[in-house]
Amino acid sequence: MSVNTISINQQMAHFEGQDSVWLFGYGSIIFKADFPFIERRPAHIVGWARRFWQGSHDHRGTAEAPGRVVTLVPQAGATCCGMAYLITPEVFAHLDHREKNGYLRLVTDIHFGDAEKAEGLIYIASEENAAFAGPASEKEIARQIFRAAGPSGRNSEYLLLLAQALRELGTDDAHVFEIEKHLLQLEREAAAEHQTAGGNGA
Ligand code: BEZ
Repeated sequence: MSVNTISINQQMAHFEGQDSVWLFGYGSIIFKADFPFIERRPAHIVGWARRFWQGSHDHRGTAEAPGRVVTLVPQAGATCCGMAYLITPEVFAHLDHREKNGYLRLVTDIHFGDAEKAEGLIYIASEENAAFAGPASEKEIARQIFRAAGPSGRNSEYLLLLAQALRELGTDDAHVFEIEKHLLQLEREAAAEHQTAGGNGA
């Protein structure tokens, strides 16, 4: 179902010889930094938009009911805000494994405010990867997320943690917040149905 990207990522030699590299996190890496880092700073990248367009059958869904997680898609003039981590090269082995389902490393400029930037890495899952789910309306995406769960937990937890982390960063991400709005509505409807069903059965 998917191409394992570990060996492709490990062939990247761009930062060879450097003892630390900046990694820009725009998804789970913002709220789940399960790796050692030297420093972390809010940052942004230019020309990319965060989208819930990557299928997840290994973390937040299953083969039968895949979830959706974020990737980056190229978009002229767009800015994507997230968190940058300064890490040692060994940490990439862990990340390559964690993000093996279609994510490839890519070199890009990472901006810290308006005046400072550094070359670093992002992981992106492009439309060529087998698990790419592609565009859908925010409501459809919310429905899919609402239903899905996998070894890393419920897909809705991923969405809600990401939305909360973006709020804490002071970022207005219309795509993520619109999906969150629909998801919360679905959860309210399900809770009301559950209550009604419980009430009828009593
Ligand atoms: C991130 O948070 O930057 C990230 C998301 C998905 C895969 C790899 C990295």
